[in-house]
Amino acid sequence: MAPPSPSYTKVTHSATYDGINPTQPGLSSAGKVVLITGASGGIGRATASSFAASGPRALILLGRRPDALAETANIVRARHAKVLIQTYEAELCDATSVRNAMNKVAVEFGGIDTVIHCAGVLAPVVPLLEADPATFLDGYKTTVVGSLVTAQAVVLANKKVSPGEDKPVTLVNLTTAGIIFPPFAGMGAYVSSKVAAVKILQSFAVENPQVRLHNVHPDSSKQLCLLSCQSQSNYRLPLMIVSITDIVLHGYLLFLTSI
Ligand SMILES: NC(=O)c1ccc[n+]([C@@H]2O[C@H](COP(=O)([O-])OP(=O)(O)OC[C@H]3O[C@@H](n4cnc5c(N)ncnc54)[C@H](OP(=O)(O)O)[C@@H]3O)[C@@H](O)[C@H]2O)c1
Repeated sequence: MAPPSPSYTKVTHSATYDGINPTQPGLSSAGKVVLITGASGGIGRATASSFAASGPRALILLGRRPDALAETANIVRARHAKVLIQTYEAELCDATSVRNAMNKVAVEFGGIDTVIHCAGVLAPVVPLLEADPATFLDGYKTTVVGSLVTAQAVVLANKKVSPGEDKPVTLVNLTTAGIIFPPFAGMGAYVSSKVAAVKILQSFAVENPQVRLHNVHPDSSKQLCLLSCQSQSNYRLPLMIVSITDIVLHGYLLFLTSI
């Protein structure tokens, strides 16, 4: 079945527009502690820059490669010198390293308000007939277990500093529109892992109502970012397109809160 190529909007933007501009006062993240997984990579790095423009209290960057994390921090600091940035090396499949990092952040700042979960792995794009059962779960582990570990860690960290209070946290999970489209040949491993992660996070959010979960699709284009959202109880199709180099997640959130 061929995948659809629908047009979801009348207007297509290829750069950040006023409605989602992070410098808008209404989109300020002042006072918020924002943590980004996969901040050493493409979308995570772009997200860090955009969040910095909205003036968060602290920007916390997680990834495995310290040099790439430092590069993200340097890029952001060069444009937004006043933003407090911390970097943590953390392997998402290692719950201890992720919990240690988030606990430290929560203790220092009194909690974590927003997590943008950008870390992910594109599993080998091969027909399933050729998929290697011995390595099939490699990408799954980061996507599925890593998403669970991330969600657990932020809730546990917030509980640690605010026992008895379920501090609200916004969790934005980067997924793929492939989870709601007809199958794409060669993408079975990747898409099925993304479905599993979404289902786990949905269950997690039901069990922990202080978690406001958004599943977001960034398009495959390196220039354009096609967003879709899936609320906890129903599906919505792609909503808007913005420049991937100027991703404004809090703009997404403002929009998502209105649906
Ligand atoms: N780019 C696209 O076209 C596209 C389309 C649809 C969906 N997505 C989704 O959007 C998200 C970001 O994509 P991207 O293109 O920015 O990916 P990317 O450039 O490959 O970056 C992936 C990030 O994930 C981190 N990561 C991977 N495995 C990890 C692990 N086990 N523990 C900790 N961190 C880990 C990497 O950090 P280190 O290398 O430092 O470990 C890196 O920062 C992913 O979830 C992806 O599936 C992307």
